[in-house]
Amino acid sequence: MSTTKKKLYIETYGCQMNVSDSEIVGSIMKGIGYEQNNKPEDADVIFINTCSIRDNAEKRVKKRLQEIRILKKKNPNLTVGILGCMAERLKEKLIEEQEFVDLIVGPDAYRELPEMIKTVEAGRKAINVILSEEETYAEIEPVRYGDNGISAYISIMRGCQNWCTYCVVPFTRGKERSRNPETIIEEAKGLFKKGYKEITLLGQNVNSYIWNESSHVDFPSLLKMVADVSPQLRVRFATSHPKDISDDLIKTIAENHNICSYIHLPFQSGSTAVLKKMKRSYTREWYMERIDAIKKMIPDCGLSTDIIAGFCTETEEDHQDTLSLMKYVGYDYAFMFKYSERPDTIAAKRYDDDVPEEVKSRRLTEIIALQQELALASNKNDIGKTFEVLVEKVSKKSDEELAGRNSQNKTIVFPRKSFKPGDYVMVKVTDCTAATLIGMSVE
Ligand code: SAH
Ligand code: SF4
Ligand code: F3S
Repeated sequence: MSTTKKKLYIETYGCQMNVSDSEIVGSIMKGIGYEQNNKPEDADVIFINTCSIRDNAEKRVKKRLQEIRILKKKNPNLTVGILGCMAERLKEKLIEEQEFVDLIVGPDAYRELPEMIKTVEAGRKAINVILSEEETYAEIEPVRYGDNGISAYISIMRGCQNWCTYCVVPFTRGKERSRNPETIIEEAKGLFKKGYKEITLLGQNVNSYIWNESSHVDFPSLLKMVADVSPQLRVRFATSHPKDISDDLIKTIAENHNICSYIHLPFQSGSTAVLKKMKRSYTREWYMERIDAIKKMIPDCGLSTDIIAGFCTETEEDHQDTLSLMKYVGYDYAFMFKYSERPDTIAAKRYDDDVPEEVKSRRLTEIIALQQELALASNKNDIGKTFEVLVEKVSKKSDEELAGRNSQNKTIVFPRKSFKPGDYVMVKVTDCTAATLIGMSVE
């Protein structure tokens, strides 16, 4: 029997959930004798795990596929598979367009990969884009690719059914479903034993997590259960939907030292009229009230957000509402995008993409410039404060320095001394840029 393992190369695009899914796929493929390989030229199987969130996300993947096509020409035995959200959105159309692709698999069908690989080995194309209402890959232990051995992600739910009018995720990821909490806690314990110090619980809308089978567990209680694994284990989560950010959740964060004081709370637009068109199900005032509640219960809370510029019908006044909401909150960080119309979404079907490209660009530029100011102001405000920092790595700029994050999710760089990745160090902030805090360890 030959002991040479076959080589799998996976490239991942899109959000952290896709990164986690690639680790599940790695684990399934390991079960049929494939080991991870970092060089696409040497691989027997190449998987591209794709994202559809904006048009340019799909364009990037298509460009990359042109390079993969050349590899396939050189090595006709190579199997090429497209995974993830583009596979789900475009289905067999992708094979019609990219005839060299052997396999198309959607996010809920990864367990079928061993069978699909057999189909390809028998000389046929394999497609499975069936969405599931139950699949959470609960008991599959992901292989951990290239993380730092300190921070890991655990997927706690899949899918989304909020149907924001601009968004493809409900189409590509299917119905919302939560994962058995026992398997989540087992995974967290296993990671802590291996030396991991920080876990981020992942889902499109984690605060609607709900488990009602053997026990009743909602998101605040799940968070507490993970925090109870060890006081030495930090817990984070992403993403939260403003509609479900309850007082109970804010209180749970406030009361537990190892649940990080940091909330990523996408607001998308500061205008109630636009929010309504987006079907976000909250108003500007409601969002501001939730921010007030967070700031009251967790005074040092780090806050970040997602913003879309130039959604359908957005006026100059709506745009000003977005800028003023940003100032009201004073975000530490933001992901900022131009609206990109996605086929089949409610917005594409019912609304005109009527904000001209140059207006979208100008508004986005203003949003980015304001965020730069807000981030700098927030960082300056930290000068003189001391934070507990979890060291993650040696700094990119100098190996005499270490980099880590504080509870608020800000990166801090400080002199190495005898500290190492994985240590908790008290660091006093002495200086900053808009992106980084700079400090000194204190006894
Ligand atoms: N579930 C999360 C976000 C998932 S997608 C939430 O609801 O907050 C990540 C971000 O991409 C969104 O928050 C939104 O800001 C952006 N996005 C989604 N669809 C988009 C589109 N069609 N055009 C531009 N940005 C989009
Ligand atoms: Fe998309 Fe809205 Fe679901 Fe987020 S909550 S994934 S933006 S539909
Ligand atoms: Fe992209 Fe799918 Fe994530 S569309 S953002 S990879 S859920």
